[in-house]
Amino acid sequence: MINEPYLTLEQIDAAAAFLRSRIRFTPKIALVLGSGLGGLADSIPEADIIPFEEIPNWPRSTVEGHVGRLVIGMLENQPVMVMQGRIHFYEGYSMSQVTFPVRVMKRLGVEILVVTNAAGAINPAFVPGDLMLILDHLNLIGMGGMNALYGPNLDEFGPRFPDMSQAYDRALNELARRAATENGITLREGVYVGLSGPSFETPADLRFLRLAGADSVGMSTVPEVTVARHSGMRVLGLSGISNKANLDGDTPTSHEEVLGAGQVIFPKIEKILRSVIRAM
Ligand code: HPA
Repeated sequence: MINEPYLTLEQIDAAAAFLRSRIRFTPKIALVLGSGLGGLADSIPEADIIPFEEIPNWPRSTVEGHVGRLVIGMLENQPVMVMQGRIHFYEGYSMSQVTFPVRVMKRLGVEILVVTNAAGAINPAFVPGDLMLILDHLNLIGMGGMNALYGPNLDEFGPRFPDMSQAYDRALNELARRAATENGITLREGVYVGLSGPSFETPADLRFLRLAGADSVGMSTVPEVTVARHSGMRVLGLSGISNKANLDGDTPTSHEEVLGAGQVIFPKIEKILRSVIRAM
C-alpha cells in the first residue's frame, strides 16, 4: 500500500517523551520552515537543538536546503519549536511519516502551527520574492488518494471525518496582515495547491491548476495542515514565491532558483513572523 507504514500513538508518544527529556521549554507555537527559509531558527539564542536522527521514529530530511533538526527556544519572548527542514512525501515517506512531527508537536502541547514553504506563482500578478498569505489550499494530492489522514484514525487526535472549512485561522491571518503593514511589506493572498512532486509541473498542469483556482503551487504543507486541523491546532501559512510557474513552457524551473529566491524572501518572512509571534 502506498501509505504504509502507519505510525501509532505509542510511536508518537515515544518521540514526545524523548523530546520532553531534552528540552527546557514548553512551546505552544511551532514553526515549519520551508526550502531556503530555515535561517530564522539560527537566530534563536541558547536553543535546544536536536537533529532529526536522534528522535525516535522521526523521519530524516533528505533534501538540500533542509537542515533537518528541531530548534527549541525563545523567539520574541515566546517559547517556540522550530522544524528547520521538513519531510516531503516525494522523498518516499508515507503520509503518516510526513505528518509525524505535527502529531508529536500536538502531544507536546503545541496549539499553533506556522507553516512556510517555497512555492511557484500561478497567479500571473505574483513575482519571485513575493510573500503570499495562504487563505486556503487545494488538497490535490489528497483528492488523488494520498490524504494525510488515510489509514486508521487516531481518535486521540481527532475525528474520522474532520472539518476543513477554515483550515487557515482567520484571526492569525489578521495578525499577519497587520505585521506586513507595520513592516511595509506587500503581502499577497491566495490559494496554495499541494502536489506530490518531485517533478515540477508541465505547462498543461499549470493551466489546469490556474483554472482550478490556485495562486501558488508547491510540494508540501497541505499534509501537515490537514493533520494539524484534525487535532484542532490553529494554523497560519505563508508561501514565499520563488519562481513564476511556467505556464507557457518557455522558462525552466530549478531547485537552485527556489533556494536562491529564499534569500530575498527570508528577511521579509522573518520580519512578519517575529511581529506575529510577538502579537500572539
Ligand atoms: N512548483 C512546485 N513546487 C515548487 C515550485 C514550483 O514551481 N517552486 C517551489 N516549489
